[in-house]
Amino acid sequence: MSDTNVAPLFAHKVKRSLASAGYRQTLIAIPAGEKSKTLEQVGAICDQMITARLDRQSFVIGLGGGMIGDISGFLAAIYHRGIPHVQIPTTLLAMVDSSIGGKTGVDTRDGKNLIGAFHQPSLVIDDLDVLKTLPHRQFIQGFAEMIKHAIIADAKMFQKLQSWDQSSSLASGALALQSLIKRNIQIKSRIVSKDERDRTGQRALLNFGHTVGHAIERAGNYDKFLHGEAVSLGIVAACAISVKRAGLSSDQRAAIVNLLGRFGLPTRLPPKFPRKPILDALNFDKKFDGGKIRFIVTPRIGVAYVAENVTPADIHEAIAQL
Ligand SMILES: NC(=O)c1ccc[n+]([C@@H]2O[C@H](COP(=O)([O-])OP(=O)(O)OC[C@H]3O[C@@H](n4cnc5c(N)ncnc54)[C@H](O)[C@@H]3O)[C@@H](O)[C@H]2O)c1
Ligand SMILES: [Zn+2]
Repeated sequence: MSDTNVAPLFAHKVKRSLASAGYRQTLIAIPAGEKSKTLEQVGAICDQMITARLDRQSFVIGLGGGMIGDISGFLAAIYHRGIPHVQIPTTLLAMVDSSIGGKTGVDTRDGKNLIGAFHQPSLVIDDLDVLKTLPHRQFIQGFAEMIKHAIIADAKMFQKLQSWDQSSSLASGALALQSLIKRNIQIKSRIVSKDERDRTGQRALLNFGHTVGHAIERAGNYDKFLHGEAVSLGIVAACAISVKRAGLSSDQRAAIVNLLGRFGLPTRLPPKFPRKPILDALNFDKKFDGGKIRFIVTPRIGVAYVAENVTPADIHEAIAQL
């Protein structure tokens, strides 16, 4: 399973490789973009899978970014009540984040990822070569999730990112990038393995920056900001709230905002971007648990926890200041 941008680039290689190993295969390519991550699309793909006579011996390979990873994983989770899922992430974001942890699903009118299933991939294959065709903006958004990982779990990696040479090309910097990707996979999988089903609050730490980030993504109709860009803005908001409610120092907050900016990630909303739709979108976020806001804060770089003392007014204020 792939999308209309990625399939023409890499699907033939995967097909050739599968064929040479004796596998029968069907390529299902859906339109690229977040708008394809819907239940309607899932229904249409199920029909194609049935027509192709996939059965319980079959498995699904998601070849693409996080959108394909999420929807193909969801299909693998429900098709014949669950068949194996292989992820071949083709974006940096998918390598360091969405391909790890087994969260699969689709968006609905009311919000992102509201429908889904936990379904761990049987195998994840990261090949850095695929990143060569990734547009720069898409590449950069992956760093938002890496900066998030550094803030919540790894002060050393934060320093490493501060001295990251962005001018180095994918070819010359491949080794450094490889070790950075590995480190991020370790961080995410370590957190996920403590709380695979997102029940105890440990996994929730990965949502740092995402309460506001998701609202911004939605307010931008999922096309104004990329996921990582919205998360970058959400991190800035979460840092403002952390200064107020968790004792984050202003210096560390400035260092975080600086680092996001150094990668060219947005740290301010466009001046004319209306705040109201962001506040409206917040109501739908699943992090508002029974009216109580469980908001992820950081008291210092490398540490995060779920706070219960964050008020809606704090969030409103942070968004107003963005
Ligand atoms: N499951 C999780 O835990 C998790 C975590 C984070 C994000 N996500 C999800 O991931 C999605 C965002 O992922 P994404 O940013 O990878 O988006 P994406 O899958 O939409 O890919 C971004 C764009 O890049 C194109 N593309 C992908 N690989 C390419 C390549 N190698 N060369 C050229 N073009 C390429 C795609 O066609 C698409 O247009 C969102 O749906 C988000 O909800 C899921
Ligand atoms: Zn994210």
